[in-house]
Amino acid sequence: MPNPSLLILPGDGIGPEVMAEVRRIIDWFGAKRGIAFDVSEDLVGGCAYDKHGTPLHDDTMARAQEVDAVLLGAVGGPQYDSLDFSVKPERGLLRLRKEMDLYANLRPAQCFDALADFSSLKKNVVAGLDIMIVRELTSGIYFGEPRGIIREGNERIGINTQRYTESEIARVARSAFELARKRSNRVCSMEKANVMESGVLWREVVTEVHQAEYSDVELSHMYADAGAMQLTRWPKQFDVIVTDNLFGDLLSDLAAMLTGSLGMLPSASLGAPMANGRPKALYEPVHGSAPDIAGQGKANPIACILSFAMALRYSFDLGDEAARVEKAVEQVLADGLRTADLMGPEGGTPVSTTGMGDAVLAALDASL
Ligand code: IPM
Ligand code: MG
Repeated sequence: MPNPSLLILPGDGIGPEVMAEVRRIIDWFGAKRGIAFDVSEDLVGGCAYDKHGTPLHDDTMARAQEVDAVLLGAVGGPQYDSLDFSVKPERGLLRLRKEMDLYANLRPAQCFDALADFSSLKKNVVAGLDIMIVRELTSGIYFGEPRGIIREGNERIGINTQRYTESEIARVARSAFELARKRSNRVCSMEKANVMESGVLWREVVTEVHQAEYSDVELSHMYADAGAMQLTRWPKQFDVIVTDNLFGDLLSDLAAMLTGSLGMLPSASLGAPMANGRPKALYEPVHGSAPDIAGQGKANPIACILSFAMALRYSFDLGDEAARVEKAVEQVLADGLRTADLMGPEGGTPVSTTGMGDAVLAALDASL
């Protein structure tokens, strides 16, 4: 059996420095656990544009379709702001999601005990929080046609289209129900059925899938704006939230911040199973490229490290090894190690990006 293959796309900004820490953890698994990966690395985003004039080269796209999993750092930066829309760094990421058909984006928001004081919400509201947002990732207003900026008379009009087919809604609903069964068995579906036809259809299809296949799971519905309010009021009422592409983008940033820092949260984007039974998959931190701190050793590598843990769990059926990485992270946080983003009034031991990586590796060693 060949080793499982990983394509690493560090991208822009802090992407390369956080991914460097993940590389060390991948190497650790080869050396200490006999779990070796065939790793290749390539460009995505602004750095790909600089070299090839496109944010994702066709060869990179083809490679992404072949490997068992893709790990991505982050894309974007202010130097690319004035580029034509079609070659912006973000288009590279969106092309990967679309062409790999990664329709289910799993964004867990978990509050580590050591960071419960760090949230902008009261400790009792967030301590022990463990929710999972399942965001539809390949359709909706991000991709719907018509789109563009047109001219009518002496005015410009910006157009985007929210569009969902039944099958697109049904498949992401199934992903959410399947996950709920392995968790607390509850799904809350969020849309704007009070204003949008696509929301009406969303609610209908989620309800149909539930009745036909998942009636053992508890299902509720909420308008997405009320959902945002409830997420800040009492987030622990939720287990799995399933929502569309744009609402999922907003709600997952909100949920991330409940846990204290965007620097903590991983994500998995999953598609249909490949011939080998593994889902098409891309793993990436929820945070962006943070150009303001790039190259200074300040970035928190934990979200990217936890994204690799999600790869172990969802692509390679190594749930125990994923839990080992997650426990190592929990340990270093409990030991008080803090990158700059985690440095609150209660203090802690300041560490650099590499310092955090060192500590996680030491905790992994101690786990053996
Ligand atoms: C995210 C990001 C992306 C999105 C951007 C970088 C295209 O905000 O993954 O949440 O809007 O989906
Ligand atoms: Mg976002």
